[in-house]
Amino acid sequence: MIVTEATQSRGGLILGIESSCDETAAAVVCGGRETLSNVVASQIALHARFGGVVPELASREHLRAVVPVVEAALAEAGVAFEELDAVAVTEGPGLPGALLVGVSYAKALAFGLGKPLIAVNHLEGHIHAVLLEALPARADAAASQTPLKPKDGLNGPPREMLETGRPVLALVVSGGHTHLYLAQVQNGVWQYRNVGRTVDDAAGEAFDKVAKLLGLGYPGGPWLDALAPFGDARAVAFSFAQVKAKAHRRGDAGALDPNDATYFSFSGIKTAVLRYTQVHAMEVRIAERRAALAAMPEASPKRDLEAVRALCDQETLDLIASFQHAVVEDLRRKTFKAAERFGAASVLVSGGVAANRELRERFTAEAEAQGLPIAFPSLKLSTDNAAMIAAAAWPKLVAGRFADERLTAAAGLKLGV
Ligand code: KG4
Ligand code: ZN
Repeated sequence: MIVTEATQSRGGLILGIESSCDETAAAVVCGGRETLSNVVASQIALHARFGGVVPELASREHLRAVVPVVEAALAEAGVAFEELDAVAVTEGPGLPGALLVGVSYAKALAFGLGKPLIAVNHLEGHIHAVLLEALPARADAAASQTPLKPKDGLNGPPREMLETGRPVLALVVSGGHTHLYLAQVQNGVWQYRNVGRTVDDAAGEAFDKVAKLLGLGYPGGPWLDALAPFGDARAVAFSFAQVKAKAHRRGDAGALDPNDATYFSFSGIKTAVLRYTQVHAMEVRIAERRAALAAMPEASPKRDLEAVRALCDQETLDLIASFQHAVVEDLRRKTFKAAERFGAASVLVSGGVAANRELRERFTAEAEAQGLPIAFPSLKLSTDNAAMIAAAAWPKLVAGRFADERLTAAAGLKLGV
């Protein structure tokens, strides 16, 4: 058994490190359940003026931030390097240069300390962000010194979700991904089957691109989320093409069997929004909004909503509400169809777009109507963070699945079969 006495008494202290995109993050999580610290250094302000993540800048910023962020995570957790049971790091997918910073640092740290190194898929991390919180925290584990049995240590959703023997369906919906996975624990290890994905843009990417073309800030999701309630979602009718058939015809459906998978496509709606702005002669208003926002580079949807709303005419607000509604409805319809088709016992939604309020409301209402349990991470754990990486690493620590010195960044890493 790999689990040491120290692991058992404190529940397994894992330092997670995440640097796949534009957030340098480190966290200490105990036993895959109890978050002792969760530090995120966001690069949003750095990339905002370019309207998207600039890979070279991201790598440089990760290099600058990784040491102080890790030190802050340990200090906040009150844990010394020597007390760690393992170091976990995001292996991929993500930006190669950005990933490499986290991977190189984690390797050096783990080998320097003589601790196990655990490689985590970023997408598995997003799924574990939900599982981390869905389980009751064993806050008493350290205090009571109760040894954790490996079975207890398995990260997992609320008992009733697992005890059905059926898989859970996880929608990972972020700036880089729109994936559906069937997830199940088999012999103590989480297994994933990819049963859905986007054939072009990710949903978050569509939010970002639409916000950008409307002259709004980056990242676009939080802005559209905040502005949508002021518009009429029925104002513009967007239709989604039958991407399933199209993707299959083009032969780009990858390994997924088109008869047994769900396809998303979000590049069409982005083009439809652009066309709408052209047909309705919105260019001047967009340019004015862009210029006004350029003068407020630090604007945030929470703090500056009223000011930014005042820069949006009703037609723009209606367009935003209609766009968001269409995307959320497409995600909802296909996710629940997949849940039914694959006999999922519950639905988990994670990734940056899972922070969207309309998405949470509509998914929750549908789950209630169908009597299906549903779980989302807290807002802080919806977007990129390292607590989810440390949580996903815990079952691997229990199972003794460690990486060695050959570990490197895997930009195109896939999850599951
Ligand atoms: O998971 P994440 O932090 O990074 C990736 O792995 O991509 O997700 C970031 C994405 C961005 O596209 C951002 O616009 C989107 O999530 N996002 C949202 C919201 N908050 C973040 N999209 C819609 N509504 C939100 N409230
Ligand atoms: Zn992510």
